[in-house]
Amino acid sequence: MADVVTMDKIVALCKRRGFLFQSSEIYGGLGSAYDYGHYGVLLKTNVKNEWWRAMIGERDDIVALDSAIILHPKVWEASGHLAGFSDPLVQCLGKCKRRWRADHLREAQPEGELKCPECGGDLTEPRHFNLMFRTHVGPVEDEGSEVFLRPETAQGIFLNFKNALQTARKKPPFGIAQVGKSFRNEITPGNFIFRTREFEQMEMEFFVPPDQAQQWYEFWRGARRDWYEQLGIRPDHLRLREHDPDELSHYSSGTADVEYLFPMGWSELEGVANRGDFDLKQHAEHSGEKLEYVDSATGDRYVPHVIEPAAGADRAMLAFMVDAYDEETVEGRERVLLRLHPRLAPVKVAVLPLVNKDGQPELARRIYEELRELMPAEFDTGGSIGKRYRRQDEIGTPWGVTVDHQTLEDETVTLRDRDTLDQSRIAITELSAELRRRLHADWRSPKLGA
Ligand code: GAP
Repeated sequence: MADVVTMDKIVALCKRRGFLFQSSEIYGGLGSAYDYGHYGVLLKTNVKNEWWRAMIGERDDIVALDSAIILHPKVWEASGHLAGFSDPLVQCLGKCKRRWRADHLREAQPEGELKCPECGGDLTEPRHFNLMFRTHVGPVEDEGSEVFLRPETAQGIFLNFKNALQTARKKPPFGIAQVGKSFRNEITPGNFIFRTREFEQMEMEFFVPPDQAQQWYEFWRGARRDWYEQLGIRPDHLRLREHDPDELSHYSSGTADVEYLFPMGWSELEGVANRGDFDLKQHAEHSGEKLEYVDSATGDRYVPHVIEPAAGADRAMLAFMVDAYDEETVEGRERVLLRLHPRLAPVKVAVLPLVNKDGQPELARRIYEELRELMPAEFDTGGSIGKRYRRQDEIGTPWGVTVDHQTLEDETVTLRDRDTLDQSRIAITELSAELRRRLHADWRSPKLGA
């Protein structure tokens, strides 16, 4: 099946249907910052909930955390971010004066002296630019009050290793999971919500006995790739790419990216890293606290190694939308639809009276009020039935319930399937059970032909 999606189409759909808006739009917009509208909030919340389900709901060796965004400044000294969390910045000396990341330019211009991709001008020597946002706590803006907005959620987890160990009654292998905002002063944000300066991460640090690190690294690489596939992404649009040694972050002895085939090409969705004992040792050294596991039965003590699956909630949401986007012509009419996995869809069922009279809206409203107790539902009476279906298709609502004149006679409704357009009649009394069954059934996109 040919791919019709482009990033421009996704951006237009997001604006048209209220998933995402340019931030501060009435002031002319703030570059690469976005506000989530109603359906965007619902979709991203579902992505995060599915991540929590995989981490906490389906396992009993991971606990949850929500740490502060502003941490003690020494954290970033210990983690290596103050010294090393930087990108090589070059600036055009020609006409356009634009700034670029030298490493990105090198990928596109593998040979010779780098040139400005905009105007062909010469470039400055690379200068290292720290990506952390600085601010101050308290009224005095001196060096002693300087703090940073966290550039990753992971460090808050390491700081709570001891707390979790003491209170959660876990022993390695066990994990701590966290979802929250991170901030990076990216030199080249772009591709819509793929790279922004303020974004949400879903990170889990899995603490393991040192001799089990490789085995758990391999486990989480596979598990995290499978998560995207189970939520509907086509398998041939996903791949695992192992980092070359010169690409590895300062803390990592092995990293694999789960990559997705975005419209701009294969790009990172999530990183799975073997961080070894780097973080716990660094924080132990800088804080003076012992961060190790002591086996009370044997007296054995060791610093656990850490395997970290680190995903972006916004980036995952973008991938799910891109993969679900489709266009087709049905009986001479074009429709755009999001073939989202039902568990991700912002709205699961729309209840639509065929006409706005003869008692249909009142009955439809009663059915809607019953269904919304079970799952996110919408009641829509505005416009022709075709227009209402198109609206629901574009926000990815998997099922539509139509109330018509026959409903008033025999208490049945029409149940429409977003993907197959199959319409079947079903008794109102069976509707809840049928929708619940569908929501929990295995689901594959019809795009896969399965
Ligand atoms: N703790 C490890 C860590 O932060 P990372 O690869 O820098 O690793 C993890 O980030 C994930 O966070 C990325 O795979 C991506 O999904 C998301 N992410 C990182 N920077 C981002 C940005 N500027 N905008 C949106 N998402 C971003």
